[in-house]
Amino acid sequence: MAAQIDSLWPAVDADLSDDALAASLLRGDRTEPWLRVNFVSSVDGAATHGGLSGGLGGDADKRFFDVLRRLCDVVLVGAGTVRGEGYGPMRLEEAAAQWRIAAGLPQHPVFAIVSGRLDLDAASPIFTDAPVRPVVVTTSESPAEKRRALAEVADVIVAGDDALDVSAMLSVLHEHGLTQVHCEGGPSLFGSLLAADAVDELCLTVSPQLEAGDARRIASGELPESRGLELARVLRSEATLLLGYTRRR
Ligand SMILES: NC(=O)c1ccc[n+]([C@@H]2O[C@H](COP(=O)([O-])OP(=O)(O)OC[C@H]3O[C@@H](n4cnc5c(N)ncnc54)[C@H](OP(=O)(O)O)[C@@H]3O)[C@@H](O)[C@H]2O)c1
Repeated sequence: MAAQIDSLWPAVDADLSDDALAASLLRGDRTEPWLRVNFVSSVDGAATHGGLSGGLGGDADKRFFDVLRRLCDVVLVGAGTVRGEGYGPMRLEEAAAQWRIAAGLPQHPVFAIVSGRLDLDAASPIFTDAPVRPVVVTTSESPAEKRRALAEVADVIVAGDDALDVSAMLSVLHEHGLTQVHCEGGPSLFGSLLAADAVDELCLTVSPQLEAGDARRIASGELPESRGLELARVLRSEATLLLGYTRRR
């Protein structure tokens, strides 16, 4: 049985269905670009257990993770997470695909992978079995030969020279109608998005675990100043909290 998710704030509502969750998270005006980021963390701030996020997220986190994918135009992921978490093609379950069609969206979101080194296999099912041609975002200093190979199986966006130019990347995605961007990490990419002040919303699952040790946090890198957040929602599934924050304006 699917994990029960209740809303605690701003509305009190018990046992939300996937459709109710999706409806509450779907943004009405898709012409306004929106960058939503989703992470799971232990109570003491670890973003991994045994090197991966999977050991932290329970059933509720998985449910929520899947619902978030329904809502976006593009799922943006750093190459480290794609490699580490063993991502496959961005193909949604049939129910989610049908929900998207009913909502007037394409059946599947675009999968966009950010990589500097382009250590990505063009023969991987990520590309060969993709229901929609994926996007690879890189910089002009990435290896030209790898860029050419990936351009056979994906749309390659070059944004920045030695470092990723987040605003250039988002502009190109928006120009292609991909305004609702959903980032699934990892911490390096999140750090770059925060440094560029590009993050509109953070979905954070707080898993009822303590990890100690030196596991990663959800964001890495340097920030010129802290980013303030406003609370947007509190969902709960037993001892797991699913928090929503938006950028403080
Ligand atoms: N708790 C969670 O919810 C969660 C979510 C996601 C990931 N994780 C965990 O995070 C760990 C991976 O961390 P990570 O920091 O390596 O993840 P990441 O940000 O996904 O990957 C870093 C890699 O992505 C590319 N990349 C990211 N930002 C870039 C930028 N600004 N410019 C150019 N390339 C960029 C680079 O790829 P190249 O090396 O190809 O140049 C870089 O080496 C894994 O253990 C994963 O399980 C946890």
